[in-house]
Amino acid sequence: MTRPVRACIDLAALRHNFALLADIAGNTQCYGVVKADGYGHGIAQVVQALEAAPKFAVAFFEEALAIREAGVDKPVLLLEGFFGSGELEACALQGFEVMLHETSQVEQLARAALPCPLTVWLKLNTGMNRLGFAPGEAAQVLERLQAMPQVRVMGVMTHFACADSENLASARSQLERLLTFREGPGAGLQFAAANSAALVAIPEARLDWARPGIMLYGCSPFPHRTAADIGLKPVMALKSALIAVRDLKAGDLVGYGALWEAKADARMGVVAVGYADGYPRHAPQGTPVSVNGQRVPLIGRVSMDMITVDLSEMPSAQVGDPVELWGQEISVDEVATKAGTISYELLTGVTRRVPRCYDNG
Ligand SMILES: Cc1ncc(COP(=O)(O)O)c(C=O)c1O
Repeated sequence: MTRPVRACIDLAALRHNFALLADIAGNTQCYGVVKADGYGHGIAQVVQALEAAPKFAVAFFEEALAIREAGVDKPVLLLEGFFGSGELEACALQGFEVMLHETSQVEQLARAALPCPLTVWLKLNTGMNRLGFAPGEAAQVLERLQAMPQVRVMGVMTHFACADSENLASARSQLERLLTFREGPGAGLQFAAANSAALVAIPEARLDWARPGIMLYGCSPFPHRTAADIGLKPVMALKSALIAVRDLKAGDLVGYGALWEAKADARMGVVAVGYADGYPRHAPQGTPVSVNGQRVPLIGRVSMDMITVDLSEMPSAQVGDPVELWGQEISVDEVATKAGTISYELLTGVTRRVPRCYDNG
């Protein structure tokens, strides 16, 4: 018997989520954001499955190359741009679109002799204060880029700090700055701003292109709205099985730190999954775990390779019974909230030792 931990990826659900996003987006086109190995789902399988996506977005050059290695030749946007001028020629030849957010990138590009024009987007800092040029500076950069024969400026992008909030005032003021730029120096270019949250919550932010990520994978970008409510389907199910079951006497203690004590005679199970697989170590006692389709509470501390669950309400549970940590029965958003984090971190944190298995529908 091999260790039973698996991340089962439902590619039909992925396609359903893209179709839903495209429907919400209307005339706006969508990049499929597939950075961090397709948010932990496997970038090759994700880009191959997303036939309907016109373009993809990743964080950096090597992630874009992984898309080419998967045999997919669509345009790929590098959201953090290039990290060294050595990447520029390959970016131009491979049809990678490069985000420019910093003066040193513009300087390197000005000195580059390229075999064909490189497509670039300019990142505008509209208030998040992470990456991008301030609007005044961006106007000059744009002028400079437009005079470079080795460069084709496609458009201007920004990123929202608070599009997932119930209060959209800050996102709206960021959008206003972007639209002012569109009416001025950016006239005639393409514009892109929306991540998943903005795509759903701020229709005016849809513009020419959107960049949804987390919703592709069936998670909600909002703390106040569930994925099911939006119509999304979970893509990853993290599964395992019971590898031990034992009866406890009142007063028996469980696991590292003796964190859980049986108040009465109890039954408990051990599941083969732990923080070295990507199950969050900070998941508190009471976090739901599905055993044989029934929700039971996590007890004790999450260890490297195992967790323990209370089976007192499941007298028939036995070694080998299937366990789902998240997926169809328990959403990754619910586990993330319990563990004080977000679905993004859980999905991208599933480690390499967990085999991925794919269902193509
Ligand atoms: C610049 C940029 N655009 C789009 C996205 C996708 O965001 P989300 O996964 O919330 O849709 C990200 C993700 O972090 C990002 O950094």
